[in-house]
Amino acid sequence: MLLKIKKRSDVCSSEITPEPVYHERRRFIQQTGRFALAGLGLALAGCSQEGEAVSKSPRIDSIPSPEGPDWLKQKVAGFKPKVYTTTESFTPYKDVTTYNNFYEFGTGKGDPASNAHTLITDPWSVVIEGEVAKPGRYSLEDILKPHTMEERIYRLRCVEAWSMVIPWIGIPLAEILKRFEPTSKARFVEFTTLYDPEQMSGQKASFGSLDWPYVESLRIDEAMNPLTLMATGLYGDVLPNQNGAPFRLVVPWKYGFKSIKSIVKIRLTEQQPKTTWETLAPEEYGFYANVNPTVDHPRWSQKHERRLPGTLLSPNRIKTRLFNGYAEEVADLYKGIDLSRFY
Ligand code: MTE
Repeated sequence: MLLKIKKRSDVCSSEITPEPVYHERRRFIQQTGRFALAGLGLALAGCSQEGEAVSKSPRIDSIPSPEGPDWLKQKVAGFKPKVYTTTESFTPYKDVTTYNNFYEFGTGKGDPASNAHTLITDPWSVVIEGEVAKPGRYSLEDILKPHTMEERIYRLRCVEAWSMVIPWIGIPLAEILKRFEPTSKARFVEFTTLYDPEQMSGQKASFGSLDWPYVESLRIDEAMNPLTLMATGLYGDVLPNQNGAPFRLVVPWKYGFKSIKSIVKIRLTEQQPKTTWETLAPEEYGFYANVNPTVDHPRWSQKHERRLPGTLLSPNRIKTRLFNGYAEEVADLYKGIDLSRFY
């Protein structure tokens, strides 16, 4: 058997220790002064590619349709097809729904698919607050009612250097926000995921976990960009829980961690909010998180990505593009900004 000696850039996601575990471990190591363990810890995380390899199968119709209320299923089914598309192949449904990051249900890629059935997504309401003329708690049905769902086929590039192509169904965030009438002071939009350890088992973890609830944020002009989507479905159906049901953000030119799931609060603010990953490790995860092959993560290269599905022998390695290939639509937002400082 031929064994390839891996370059630093040939990172696989299982080599990347789940972030909170890494940082918790680092805090522990620093506290105890056992610095030598850091390298050992990373090496021990290993790379079990066989277990991680994702299936090549296309959309399997025998996979049961995700649960969701009838009104939402009907709403999603009425989508306008291919409002935004690509010539690239879609990542198969099975991979999109079984290889996930949703730390509220565990840090393993398969944990959300195994554990997220405990999330109750109906009824669901979202609090809209801060710098808006019409604050309040709104049912998801009322939020979605006046809008027509759109299919948007976007690339999703994770900061861990894997990527997918996903046919989302949703509504541009700008259309939703306008209805709540942002004030002239609204400069940022903050999003918060549900906090309920009874439903989200990962929130009970006391070691190697994030500070809950998960919070993300965009500048108001990023939020208003026509590409920014509030998704309620994928592959023509409602979102499976593991993909952030019933209501999640999708920002295709930014690393996937900006695309926060299962949102219960949207707050418009004058000051830049503190976000989960930036707070955990500011030297590794910036507020902007724009996909950028010229700015490496301190622990791995961002020049390439593994387009899923792939296997150990055929990792499907492709070049990463600036703004994940959406420069034409978003580069203007960052004119005059040093992207290596504001990463
Ligand atoms: N949102 C919440 N609430 N919790 C999370 O752990 N993970 C993020 C993002 N949104 C995450 C989240 C990361 S790191 C990525 S890459 C994407 O979700 C993955 O989305 P997917 O599982 O639907 O592919």
